[in-house]
Amino acid sequence: MQSSSILSNETSVSPKNSFCELSGWLSWNVKFCRFMSLVAVIGMQWGDEGKGKVVDLLSESASHIARAQGGNNAGHTVVVQEKEYQFHLIPSGILYPHAKCYIGGGTVIDPKSFLEELDAIRAHGIAFEKRLFLSRYAHLVFPYHRLLDGLGDKSKGELAIGTTKKGIGPCYADKANRLGLRLADLLSPTFRQRLKETLSRKNHELEKLYDHPPLDFEEIASEYEGYAQKLAPFVAPVEEMLYEAIQQKERVLFEGAQGSLLDLTFGTYPFVTSSCTIAGGIPAGLGVGPCIDRILGVVKAYTTRVGNGPFPSELSDEEYKLFPDHNASREIGVTTGRKRRIGWFDAFLVSHTIRLSGVNCLAIMKLDILDGFDKIKICTGYRLDGQTLTSFPATGDELERIEPIYETIDGWKKPTTGIRNYRELPHAARAYLRRIEELSGVAISLISVGPARDQTLWMDRFFEEVSS
Ligand code: GDP
Ligand code: IMO
Ligand code: MG
Repeated sequence: MQSSSILSNETSVSPKNSFCELSGWLSWNVKFCRFMSLVAVIGMQWGDEGKGKVVDLLSESASHIARAQGGNNAGHTVVVQEKEYQFHLIPSGILYPHAKCYIGGGTVIDPKSFLEELDAIRAHGIAFEKRLFLSRYAHLVFPYHRLLDGLGDKSKGELAIGTTKKGIGPCYADKANRLGLRLADLLSPTFRQRLKETLSRKNHELEKLYDHPPLDFEEIASEYEGYAQKLAPFVAPVEEMLYEAIQQKERVLFEGAQGSLLDLTFGTYPFVTSSCTIAGGIPAGLGVGPCIDRILGVVKAYTTRVGNGPFPSELSDEEYKLFPDHNASREIGVTTGRKRRIGWFDAFLVSHTIRLSGVNCLAIMKLDILDGFDKIKICTGYRLDGQTLTSFPATGDELERIEPIYETIDGWKKPTTGIRNYRELPHAARAYLRRIEELSGVAISLISVGPARDQTLWMDRFFEEVSS
């Protein structure tokens, strides 16, 4: 369902019922109350768009928050007052005591990392007992996955993907190859036997391909038996619980991880992650059926990418110098500490990912990072071998060779971090947002001007009313 375009209608909004005046009402109402109850939050670029902040904002009004795919390769930062929280696998919604959080069958769980994340949450004083649930179908990351991830990527030399080295790719590969072990298997009496069979294959791979000494079976088996005890209280029939919540028309928020261009099928293959990151991956990863009412696509007001692979709108060396420092702009990867690569907003790319997920509203994040620029570029299309492309290229070779078509617009050169109403944004900032909306063909529902919760401009209800 398409929400009405607010930005393109701004001139017709009378001051009496303008969105600035209604913003208090909207910021309450925009959430789930009385609106469609199944909402997905999806990254539209190469990840790190600010999904964590958006999920945190919407979780206030959601009863259930579920992760469908990926693992601890994700890194979602949420800033609440002076505190900063970092999540990798656990849904950011855990910060709200009323919210039930689920980690679905399509995810991969590294028990060591999961338990460390729980410790960090506990240290922040957040109680999660009886409201954090793990699907029995989720596959487990083992030490050999992490090891093979690092060794495998290194062995690719110049073609290395630059993975997070969390073992995500090898774990999903084992799943597809019917060699994986799931949470259900960890809790089964056959666990040792299954692990023994798998480990003998993995040790063969380690020794023959990488000349690496074999891993010790007993050590891994007893380490994971220890995890089994700690994980058992969280294991639950997640699929049935979500089915029930959906039947009861309760508000469910689906938290996407990674970004659409990291999707295993439709991303910039092979420089992608190993799960389905587009909206279609959500029902498949949670086993809930294609039920989503609203798909909110999250984009940065520019573009970033961590790791290797094509990046058509990446800044030139000169332009990099104009961009705020990586620390100031919060463009350092949460999971690996790597500096993110930066580029201009690429509307051609975002239009492509909007189609892949059937996105019906957009959240524009980090507008404030562009506050200091004289001129801002937007990529509106691609040219290849003298031809203007009409569809997004499917190969890295083409993407490396394309010539981005840019439009340059005036910057606003004023701070936006203190602004809370759309109409108070500088004229040029509004023109920039309007242009993004025009080029992408999807209404902007939320604009973010800083990492904190209140640094948010709510533009639209974006959850249509449910006829009750
Ligand atoms: P995610 O993986 O999509 O959840 O995004 P990350 O959390 O990895 O990266 C986004 C970073 O930008 C985090 O450090 C956020 O705190 C920060 N952030 C989110 N929204 C804004 C914003 O509007 N302005 C600024 N300056 N920072 C933001
Ligand atoms: P969030 O949820 C940004 C990237 C890695 C690498 C590629 C493959 O925070 O947006 P993997 O370890 O998944 O096999 O690495 O994918 N990558 C991400 N980049 N944000 C993420 O998650 C990412 N998760 C994986 O940098 O290029
Ligand atoms: Mg991130």
